[in-house]
Amino acid sequence: MTSIQKVVYCSRNLIEGDAATRNAEISQILETSRRNNSKANVTGALLFSADHFAQVLEGPQEALEAVFERIQNDTRHGDVTVLESLTSEQRDFAEWSMAYVSPEECALTPELDAKLQDAIHKSSDAGQEVLDLLKSLVLQEV
Ligand SMILES: Cc1cc2nc3c(=O)[nH]c(=O)nc-3n(C[C@H](O)[C@H](O)[C@H](O)COP(=O)(O)O)c2cc1C
Repeated sequence: MTSIQKVVYCSRNLIEGDAATRNAEISQILETSRRNNSKANVTGALLFSADHFAQVLEGPQEALEAVFERIQNDTRHGDVTVLESLTSEQRDFAEWSMAYVSPEECALTPELDAKLQDAIHKSSDAGQEVLDLLKSLVLQEV
């Protein structure tokens, strides 16, 4: 089995405007992500918690680097902070070109936004925690 690369990062949301504007922008991000990621054999999950994003990306190293490079340059978010970068034998989100957890679902974990904020400003080791949280939130949806 060939190993895959996995990256967990968080960032600060820079999308302005009301809820409708934000939702439209998120839908567009997801549509693009799902199209590009399935072509590149990249899978993962995106969490949006109003002020922050957290995302897990997994796939072949080269493809993953290309996707992450584009994401880092996207002006819809800032302070992109890598929480975890590792090689793994298996994917956690094999069935999802990009699973999505909305702010409503994040409300299940009210301390999350503070945690992501902390992760950006102090280099805390929230990577595994964010990964576990995304896994539990995505898996409980199916
Ligand atoms: C929080 C966030 C997550 C994103 N995730 C992905 C992703 O998983 N895959 C992807 O291709 N683009 C993702 N994007 C969009 C990219 O930054 C970029 O706009 C897109 O890849 C350009 O693709 P296109 O040239 O096909 O339009 C994300 C953007 C943001 C703000």
